[in-house]
Amino acid sequence: MYTLPALSLYIHIPWCVRKCPYCDFNSHATQAGEDIPEAAYIAALLQDLAVELKAVAGRRLHSVFIGGGTPSLMSAAGIGEVLTFVKTHIDCESDMEVTLEANPGTFEQAKFAGFLEQGVNRLSIGVQSFDDDCLQALGRIHSARQAKLAIGKAQALGFERINLDLMHGLPGQTLASGLADLQQALDFGTDHLSWYQLTIEPNTEFYSRPPNLPDEDVLVDIQDQGQVLIEAAGLSQYEISAYSKPASQARHNLNYWRFGDYVGVGAGAHGKVSYWQDGNMVIERRVKLRQPKAYMSAINALSSSHIVTPEELQLEFFMNALRLQAGVSTDDYLANTGQALTSVTDALASARKAGLMMPDRLQASPLGWRFLNDLLTYFE
Ligand SMILES: C[S@@+](CC[C@H](N)C(=O)[O-])C[C@H]1O[C@@H](n2cnc3c(N)ncnc32)[C@H](O)[C@@H]1O
Ligand code: SF4
Repeated sequence: MYTLPALSLYIHIPWCVRKCPYCDFNSHATQAGEDIPEAAYIAALLQDLAVELKAVAGRRLHSVFIGGGTPSLMSAAGIGEVLTFVKTHIDCESDMEVTLEANPGTFEQAKFAGFLEQGVNRLSIGVQSFDDDCLQALGRIHSARQAKLAIGKAQALGFERINLDLMHGLPGQTLASGLADLQQALDFGTDHLSWYQLTIEPNTEFYSRPPNLPDEDVLVDIQDQGQVLIEAAGLSQYEISAYSKPASQARHNLNYWRFGDYVGVGAGAHGKVSYWQDGNMVIERRVKLRQPKAYMSAINALSSSHIVTPEELQLEFFMNALRLQAGVSTDDYLANTGQALTSVTDALASARKAGLMMPDRLQASPLGWRFLNDLLTYFE
């Protein structure tokens, strides 16, 4: 009974060359012409890791995701130093997935060869679009040509697992240009695609100065016809915005959606870690200081921590698990929350009666998948 969910590690790098007008992630533009304070940040990361990995001593690490921000602004040696520290402080699965997010505007062949050498075995390249007008409207620092070169070179260097981040519903986009964009991504034959519809988030430049976005019927057509193109290219949808070739799902992201555990280090990083206490599984959420300067100078990088209550647990579990097209097994509820499935019997029965969930798994029905927000109200 004293088992715990699989454990992942998220490492946040909080700088970008320029802040994109749609982005609400914890990313800060570097000062013009200045390098990121890499040495000081690595020192802070190692200090943060030492504390966090001590708290999960004895467990085995399933995956690492180095995200941002723009982690490809770091040197390969810097990434190597952090990964070496991780591997010497915690037992790691032998074929552990190690993903690094890369921006095509920061692509240098030598650096990317170095990331591969240092143990990064999966790249997530932020392409967003292959249309220069869209890229400009999105405030990206790279052109379509640079994005294509970056993908081609990553493939030539030997990265076998590459995710492309692409967005749709972009300013000025039509059905034809949206599908052409998608087809160009698919033509690279990478094993994974994240295809997000652009959302306008509060606290972004687009929120205060909204761009001209395609009409709702164009958005629906891009989504529907895009799905057909993606399936035809041999990738299957397994989450709302994630598509992969068989057996190439992102193991790190799957662990989030299955309500696994993850340690979060770096400025503003979030973590969720479970442990057993007096026969009960306790789930703690931990958030780190958000401002890079404060994070780097702090003796204790923790900003807040919170023990998830049984009521919160139910909704949080289903918010993640129901994003997966195949859902999760009923056994996963007990295994990853420590709560008996009987605590959600009534909610499950009502959702199934309304035709929003499948009978034997914790899985949305096609109708529930379409109206996910309505389905989640059953678990509030
Ligand atoms: C945390 S970002 C980091 C990726 C990397 N910094 C880059 O932009 O190249 C991860 C992805 O989320 C997506 N994204 C960010 N903001 C978004 C928004 N407002 N709407 C839809 N997708 C968004 C983008 O596709 C982006 O590549
Ligand atoms: S490069 Fe990525 S993380 Fe940085 S501002 Fe743009 S979308 Fe956000």
